[in-house]
Amino acid sequence: MHQPERVSLREVAPRDGLQNEPPVPAADKIRLIDALARTGLSRIEAVSFVSPKAVPQMADAAEVWAAVEKHPGIRYSALAPNRRGVERALDAGFTAVEVVVSASETHNKANIGRSVAESLAELPDICALAKERLAAIEVIIATSFGCPFEGDIAPAKVARIVEAAQEAGAGRVAFGDTTGMGTPRRVTELLDAVQPSAGPDLPMLMHFHDTRGTALANLLTALDRGITEFDASVGGIGGCPFAPGASGNVATEEVVHMLHDMGVDTGVDLDALIRTAELAQEIVGRPLESGVLRAGPRTSLTPRP
Ligand code: COA
Ligand code: ZN
Repeated sequence: MHQPERVSLREVAPRDGLQNEPPVPAADKIRLIDALARTGLSRIEAVSFVSPKAVPQMADAAEVWAAVEKHPGIRYSALAPNRRGVERALDAGFTAVEVVVSASETHNKANIGRSVAESLAELPDICALAKERLAAIEVIIATSFGCPFEGDIAPAKVARIVEAAQEAGAGRVAFGDTTGMGTPRRVTELLDAVQPSAGPDLPMLMHFHDTRGTALANLLTALDRGITEFDASVGGIGGCPFAPGASGNVATEEVVHMLHDMGVDTGVDLDALIRTAELAQEIVGRPLESGVLRAGPRTSLTPRP
């Protein structure tokens, strides 16, 4: 199996995680982001600039971001559903924004209230605006591996969105497995469809949810295909409020635990990360399902010293 020396993880618990929990105070969000920043993670998706009516959990995004410690070595980013969200993110000082569009018409409509074509039509303008403000745009393609309303999504459909994103001037793309419909086979088929046409210069990231227990297998499959960037969420929290059946992201501590044992560097301190997963658990106020959070690393002894 092909194995890189290093994998770059983007932590998404403050956004993907907390958007799918009952609202928590801004102070807790700030505490979580600052704790994540001290684990060695180099990328954190901190907030989203979406409608407060659609996602009340993110209504205080600007307030949270203003109070977060900005660590110079960390690339912080925000998610936006449209031009208005990108403007808000840039005005708040973000230099990296993820614009989300779904590969599924039905999910795009449910999630951001419009058609895929309408989302794509706005992209050139968004990319031009970001360029002017020296910011980078990544396009996240939600439901890339299947949609809870439409079922399977043809990889060719995802490839067409990648092309549109590239033409619009987006610097990166991400493939979101919004409701955990991906399997190693689907990861292979998607990459077969998107890698040749996109070429080697477009950075690609994978965003897996572990809804059906396939997230780590999907990650290894993508790794074997040369993908070295992944989203993950501490404690495994996460989910899209507009996708029925959505559940948690692959847990960052499970990814780090597995990769380190394989000899793949992530730059992350696993113990600090597990302590941060404990903090996430305390903040959301329910036991989290992450195996590494529950059991500790594979070498942890019972009883713990
Ligand atoms: N941030 C804040 N407010 C926004 C906004 C943004 N990015 N974009 C639009 N709005 C406001 C509008 O000004 C309008 O406000 P008003 O009711 O006070 O006039 C309101 O939101 C509705 O906007 P409208 O254009 O009619 O669209 P909509 O009601 O279909 O909502 C979105 C569209 C995109 C704003 C909304 O669906 C959304 O925020 N979705 C995000 C979903 C999400 O975060 N999913 C999980 C992450 S993938
Ligand atoms: Zn997600």
